[in-house]
Amino acid sequence: MKWIKAFAPATIGNIGPGFDVLGLAVKKIGDIVEARKRSSGVKISSIAYAGPNVNLSTDPRKNTAGIAALETLKILNEKGGVELRLKKGLPLGSGLGSSAASAAAAAFAVNHLYGNILTREDLILPATVAEEAVSGAFFADNTAPALLGGATLTRSCVPLDVTRIGSIKKLKIILVTPEMVILTKEARKILPKKIHMKNFIFNMANTALITAAFAKDDYALFSRSLNDVVIEPVRSKLIKGFSKVKENALKAGADGMSISGSGPTLFAITDKLRKARRIEDAMVETFKQFGIKSSHIITEVDSDGARLVT
Ligand code: HSE
Repeated sequence: MKWIKAFAPATIGNIGPGFDVLGLAVKKIGDIVEARKRSSGVKISSIAYAGPNVNLSTDPRKNTAGIAALETLKILNEKGGVELRLKKGLPLGSGLGSSAASAAAAAFAVNHLYGNILTREDLILPATVAEEAVSGAFFADNTAPALLGGATLTRSCVPLDVTRIGSIKKLKIILVTPEMVILTKEARKILPKKIHMKNFIFNMANTALITAAFAKDDYALFSRSLNDVVIEPVRSKLIKGFSKVKENALKAGADGMSISGSGPTLFAITDKLRKARRIEDAMVETFKQFGIKSSHIITEVDSDGARLVT
């Protein structure tokens, strides 16, 4: 049987105030899933890691790629199965949508192997069911942009209603991942159960404007709307050095900075590459002052989402 290879990009989800609703696919980094047909069932024959080996399970029911494959076959009403080989380009527990990228790539590959019957939108559900199995909650702000590309907004989870919003061409994104692991499950436990009305209004307004910014390809509007007074103040406590890193990113010229997903990756924004390099240096250097090493990359919006690669 012939192998095919699917790629799904890393994602920032949440984008600032758009908790659980706004997500964004980014270029250059992601996961690869190789797949071929087998007579029945899902088998994960290997997992390769770019970063430290964390020993993900090869049991298809305990791995997001495996679960997404099983769920996609179920929707297709397909008796045949798949064999998968996973190439993790994204570190786990980093806030870059690692589990979602594997799930999205696997769902995309399985659909392709079995006649491409489902749309990208149809694949969000099986990928999100897989994400739920590891994160303990159902949200599509990583799986949707990983499949659709660009920025996406989830209006409702049940029934799933996700819209692709668009992209901002000028946007340069500085991703800095300090060497620490934060599990989404844990980062959700500390979230407030109640919030003040004024904070709700503030975050809602900024979320709506970020949506408008991606729809209009308006960098200036995005840069003044990247403000989160609900989630960031709580989750930033899990990231040593956060306040200083943010202060120095802004001093170096960033137009905004927030936590990618549940962290610890931080993302800062600008529309100038030269400035992006200065911001990246400032953030990395500040983490260093706290004794923390970090990996870093300057990237842009990935408008394509999951795709076959050679
Ligand atoms: N929206 C989720 C959260 C994404 O912030 O908990 C996790 O990657």
